[in-house]
Amino acid sequence: MNQWYCTICHETFASDSKPAACESCHADDRMILSAAEVPQSLEQVRDLARKKLKGICAAYPSCDGNFDKICQREAYGKPIGMGGIGQGRSFRANSESLANIQLNMSVLGDHFEPDTTCSFLGIDLRFPVMASSTAGAQGYNDALDETFFCTAVLRGSQEAGTIGLRGDTWFYTPEDNPSLKAMKACKGYGIPIFKPRSQDVLKRLFEAAESCGCKAVGIDLDGCGSTNMASHGQPVFKKSVKDIEELVTFTSLPFIAKGILLPDEAQKCVDAGASVIAVSNHGGRVMDSTPGVATMLPLIRKKLGNSVTITADGGVRTGYDVLKLLALGANAVLLGRDIIRAAVGAGTLGVKLHLEHMEKTLKKAMFMTGTKNIAMADSSIIFNHNGTKEEKWEKY
Ligand SMILES: Cc1cc2nc3c(=O)[nH]c(=O)nc-3n(C[C@H](O)[C@H](O)[C@H](O)COP(=O)(O)O)c2cc1C
Repeated sequence: MNQWYCTICHETFASDSKPAACESCHADDRMILSAAEVPQSLEQVRDLARKKLKGICAAYPSCDGNFDKICQREAYGKPIGMGGIGQGRSFRANSESLANIQLNMSVLGDHFEPDTTCSFLGIDLRFPVMASSTAGAQGYNDALDETFFCTAVLRGSQEAGTIGLRGDTWFYTPEDNPSLKAMKACKGYGIPIFKPRSQDVLKRLFEAAESCGCKAVGIDLDGCGSTNMASHGQPVFKKSVKDIEELVTFTSLPFIAKGILLPDEAQKCVDAGASVIAVSNHGGRVMDSTPGVATMLPLIRKKLGNSVTITADGGVRTGYDVLKLLALGANAVLLGRDIIRAAVGAGTLGVKLHLEHMEKTLKKAMFMTGTKNIAMADSSIIFNHNGTKEEKWEKY
């Protein structure tokens, strides 16, 4: 008898040959590993992902959209895969804008254990890092079923002490929606972000999210530039301030406006009633040649002041990157590609291991910059050549 492990629900079972599906959650055999294959470390998760994503993503130590990476090799008309749109300039701008920020190392003072706990929309989190909204797992060598991909992200996030967001793509419909099915399976502990579909469709999706008990809803407003939706004939639209107001009024849940890069547009979304501004260029996937998120975030925080919740995502790979974005004005930070790789590699377990690694490196970064808690992560820990403290953004 061999021992088998389901990476989605952690069930173990014994049988001579690999079962076709998990007896408990019914995840298919793509998510079942032999006892010997079960990863114990993040590196092992990444090794599994590398095999499954062959030809699409090599799970490089640096995921930055450079031309030497498989995802970014220019091939006109090729599907976008895991890369950035066009020449990948927006994708690279995220990594470069983060790389250009340096942190002040502070070694004097009392010894302390960094406190990473925080609250997001009234939800207590162990650390301010969340799984970003992504979708389309079938595009990655069909490595896993879409609903189980969503479940892995939601469960893995919750098990790590944080919360997962889920995306939307061309084959999702209000009637057959992998994100909402997973939300239901996870008792609503998650946040669906929908593409800017027609107002009517969005209202139906919001109602469904409410009935699943989801914690918030959102729209990736920059999804109006989605090549995946366009190439499959799925209509997506630019949204007006009036459209956003209508949707905010329609739902009883907090509303997240994702894909904002301009301070004025951030303000308009706040005025329209959005609870969260998600600063993002969609990982560089909807328009080439935008500035990086670390460049725009402080301008948006300055414009909005301290009372608005802001998230940021794009190019975040380590706890040091997380701390930089917190210091530049984010209340919480999200991970896109890294969570996809983690879920493809080892489902719920992979996502949990990845997020726990982020928590660990965030603590290290906080410790070495003298940042005792999340509220202290402000611009004073960012190096500048004048040796002065930049204007501070306090966290409420
Ligand atoms: C393969 C892939 C699929 C994505 N799908 C969605 C989506 O459905 N909805 C959405 O709001 N953002 C989507 N995003 C963008 C992410 O939410 C996030 O903004 C971005 O990935 C962050 O950058 P990072 O991947 O460098 O961490 C997707 C990103 C990738 C790489």
